[in-house]
Amino acid sequence: MSLDMPKLKEQKRTKKLIVPQTPFTESHLFGADEFGWLIDVSKSKPNAASWLAQNKALINTRLNEKGAVLIRGTAFDGIPDFDDFICEVGEKLSYEYRSTPRSELKGRVYTSTNYPASEWIPLHNENAYSAVYPNKVIFGCQQAPETGGSTTLADSNRIFELLPEQVREKFQRFGVKYVRNMGMGFDLHWHEVFQTQDKDKVAQICSAMGINFTWNGEMLRTEQTLPAAKIHPVSKLNIWFNQAHLFHYSSIPQDIAEELISAFGEEALPRNAYYGDGSPLEVDVLDTINQTYEQCLKAFPWQKGDLLVVDNLRVAHGRQPFTGERTILTGMTL
Ligand SMILES: [Fe+2]
Repeated sequence: MSLDMPKLKEQKRTKKLIVPQTPFTESHLFGADEFGWLIDVSKSKPNAASWLAQNKALINTRLNEKGAVLIRGTAFDGIPDFDDFICEVGEKLSYEYRSTPRSELKGRVYTSTNYPASEWIPLHNENAYSAVYPNKVIFGCQQAPETGGSTTLADSNRIFELLPEQVREKFQRFGVKYVRNMGMGFDLHWHEVFQTQDKDKVAQICSAMGINFTWNGEMLRTEQTLPAAKIHPVSKLNIWFNQAHLFHYSSIPQDIAEELISAFGEEALPRNAYYGDGSPLEVDVLDTINQTYEQCLKAFPWQKGDLLVVDNLRVAHGRQPFTGERTILTGMTL
């Protein structure tokens, strides 16, 4: 009997094309009427980046529908695995025009914000105070805390819809003006914000990002007015997308704010926010905004190995206080 070589070759070729599909289950992360999606791959515990490479269309569809996807049960463990996963999500962004302290662990892989464990990090869309922001934020749980420490999430479309119309209308008409005074010994120094000690480099970054800046010796003042809301490029939903509630002085404890204002004047506060025409934001309006964020807050308990991909336009994130060690790796992509 002679071997049918062409047929054998064909079979070999066909075999190569069969990519083994790893089984997984899908469900709502918070409930049928809510944003958020859970994909559980723990039955096969695949390599995270390889699994994503095979299921990218699915992830992108779910992200567009649900705003955030939690992938549970991959073999992700450690910074290199997380880095591979982010590279599969998209083009990595560096955290250049910073508003919070964080450490870079490897090229553009960061710790989540270095804030005291006992404090909440309020809900926010990453870099919404900037003209340059990531489209996706990725979190990986390397070590789950003993208690608390959830990455809180909220639907930016629901926040927009729930805010009183007169609040939305005024913010949309004027936008938000962000003002920062750096190098005074409070808040982040401009060295950290811009990740350089070179004033010319700061000038280049500011010009590229449309930020107005003035130097007073070693002190740097920046001002930028940006829209308060956007239309999501895919879903076309209205989204609340600004950080007025974090930049306004009412976000820091009242006694500290009063001390700083009496020492330096409101103009020289390390950071502050106004309406885009320079008029002050009303504290009761900011209270309403903060209450709306709280009303929309959702959280799930982290498990070691969880990977969370968040559409930064659609979904805001924050953090609960926690006890014990907590290591959540973070990355951002375009
Ligand atoms: Fe953040």
